[in-house]
Amino acid sequence: MKHYDMFSFLPLLFVMLFSLSTANTVYDVVQLGAISDGKTDCTNAYLKAWTLACNTVGSATITVPPGRYLLKEIVFGGECKNSDTTIYINNEATLVAPSDYNVLGKSEAWIKFEKVNGVSIYGGTLDAQGTALWACKSGNGKCPDGATSLKFIGSRDIVIQGLASTNSQMFHIVISDCENVKVQEVVVTASGNSPNTDGIHVESSSGVTITRTSIKTGDDCISIGPGTTNLWIENVACGPGHGISIGSLGKEFNEQGVQNVTVKTVVFTGSQNGLRIKTWPKPSNGFVKDVLFQDAIMNNVENPIIINQNYCPHNDDCPNKGSGVKISDVTYKGIHGTSATQVAVEFHCSVQQPCRGIILENVDLTYQNKAAQSSCTSADGSTYGVVHPSSCL
Ligand SMILES: *[C@@H]1O[C@H](CO)[C@@H](O)[C@H](O)[C@H]1NC(C)=O
Repeated sequence: MKHYDMFSFLPLLFVMLFSLSTANTVYDVVQLGAISDGKTDCTNAYLKAWTLACNTVGSATITVPPGRYLLKEIVFGGECKNSDTTIYINNEATLVAPSDYNVLGKSEAWIKFEKVNGVSIYGGTLDAQGTALWACKSGNGKCPDGATSLKFIGSRDIVIQGLASTNSQMFHIVISDCENVKVQEVVVTASGNSPNTDGIHVESSSGVTITRTSIKTGDDCISIGPGTTNLWIENVACGPGHGISIGSLGKEFNEQGVQNVTVKTVVFTGSQNGLRIKTWPKPSNGFVKDVLFQDAIMNNVENPIIINQNYCPHNDDCPNKGSGVKISDVTYKGIHGTSATQVAVEFHCSVQQPCRGIILENVDLTYQNKAAQSSCTSADGSTYGVVHPSSCL
């Protein structure tokens, strides 16, 4: 061998070593037995792919080719041997739930990830086929509660990107007890009168960001439960739906607070609420603090800005004691557009725990091209710049 031959082999050797050290093992659900006809139960093939990926040392990839895949209740559980698993769902691939809602109706979730770290999901559609259950719920028949379509619990370093969720039975996506979760370019769709179909629900979690996402549904676009901290929401379109809600809070006496929530550049269209905080009128040690609502556009929204500390649907079990949840340091800055009702700004705070540090800065909301109104109870704070309707703080 001449000396220059040896040198020309060196780069190849490096490439070989490099690809060994970053070995990425790919598991394709179809190669593992999934049949993409939308009728054959693929749950076992998906579980097989997950078990292989989860036991892979180094990074793992699961791929879902185009087609329809029928899945029953499925749990992707950890702990895994790696914290780098990527699930690529082709954009022409749909995971479908059984059409009989009784199959999943009593499950907590249809697709659940539990105790996983470093899992990313890209693309694809989840179709939970919830319409029959909604019809049941709107009648007087006995129907199950329904399952959340996609739930992450007890997990960290999660990415959900470019996923579509349609017609969930109950909530579309739930993030519970998680840390560092990025939800981006997600599209949620369900009918405006579908019951309990919250788009994205976050609870007991820190460092969740939801960006560039569109939500059309029958309940809250995004709901924020107890124990949510460092939540960032930006560039979201909401409506139809019940708005972005912190709450309901204070249902339990011992409850974790909600702190450091930013909601930026959100467009609400024809939604029941815009930016909402709601608590039950019950004793509670919960709290909400350090919230920034910035640059929202309201298009014909029933309650563009609302704090309701007297939330008691069906007048169930509310002892009439006022809410114990302390609300403080909530800023509304650059909120513009139209209200569908005369009262565009409503702060109905607890007599026991008045709201403190509410700030309105450059808020301009109108009702039928005329001045709208504000309404306050037990709310304290200040205003800056132009504020229409004039503040009642
Ligand atoms: C508030 O949350 C954001 C993420 O949404 C984070 O970057 C920031 O550091 C947090 N602020 C505090 C004071 O923890």
